[in-house]
Amino acid sequence: MKKYRDIAGDGGSNVVGQVGEQQARLQRRLDAVRFVVAVVSGKGGVGKSTVTANLATAWASAGWRVGVLDADLNGPSMAKMLGVRGQTLAVAGDAVTPPRSAAGVSVMSMDLLLSSDAEPLHWRAPTQQEAHTWRGTMEAQALREFLADTAWGQLDALVVDLPPGADRLATIVSLVPALAGTVIVTIPSDVCQLVVRRSITVAQQEKAPILGLVENMAGLFPGPDAETLAAGAGIPFLGSVPFDRGLSLAGDRGDPFVITEPATAAARALAVIAEKIRAHLERSPRC
Ligand SMILES: Nc1ncnc2c1ncn2[C@@H]1O[C@H](COP(=O)(O)OP(=O)(O)OP(=O)(O)O)[C@@H](O)[C@H]1O
Ligand SMILES: [Mg+2]
Repeated sequence: MKKYRDIAGDGGSNVVGQVGEQQARLQRRLDAVRFVVAVVSGKGGVGKSTVTANLATAWASAGWRVGVLDADLNGPSMAKMLGVRGQTLAVAGDAVTPPRSAAGVSVMSMDLLLSSDAEPLHWRAPTQQEAHTWRGTMEAQALREFLADTAWGQLDALVVDLPPGADRLATIVSLVPALAGTVIVTIPSDVCQLVVRRSITVAQQEKAPILGLVENMAGLFPGPDAETLAAGAGIPFLGSVPFDRGLSLAGDRGDPFVITEPATAAARALAVIAEKIRAHLERSPRC
């Protein structure tokens, strides 16, 4: 059987050159971004995407140039929540121009590339077992392309909305070693906090700065308060966002709740959290 070392050259594909070029493009794009912020939670359905959409919108309305990368390849929701679903992507030169939300947030999501609502993303491989082995690598490669081949332009913040899973942060850290920080989202439930504790550990192990913990859906469950969790873990507590049906409906409509319903308790909480993070980042050495 032939081994890799038996193959002379790369068959003319210049694969090493291509990867090198993409790496250089990625670096150029990241050099134009002041802060990359990842929104994470080991737990699903706790409001990571809702927090991402509203942080990005609040920052854009405060005058920052903002982009959102939807890193949830198989459950993308950023295009919908930011109201750009169905917009076509324009290719200009070596990059794709991302659509912009009403508040001016540039959005890149797998949702803008998939033609069907119902069709999941498949990683094709000769056997199912190989598909499983390759999935992580393919996901990282797809995210690298989204980062490198999107015309983000000069940005103050690029917010990355991660899928659930404590381990997902490692992929982003491998692509963006100079991550400005992570925002960790939890809800008042023991089950959730158990998982979120692991997310905090992963962020610490990956040496990704933790901007703080957000408690979402406050008041909906009688569970433990997140402030205690944050204090126990030695990380900042950023605030509590109450459960508000209006916030959910706004997400479904693609409305930027934080600016369309600014008087509600949930929008006020999100605005305060956004401003805390923005002020912290502005004081950080990378600006
Ligand atoms: N504070 C809130 N009040 C009411 N509804 C909320 C609140 N936060 C989020 N939701 C709703 O809860 C659902 C899940 O939120 P979201 O999609 O943001 O979670 P997620 O953590 O990104 O989920 P996933 O793990 O699937 O990516 C959505 O329908 C959203 O509109
Ligand atoms: Mg989500």
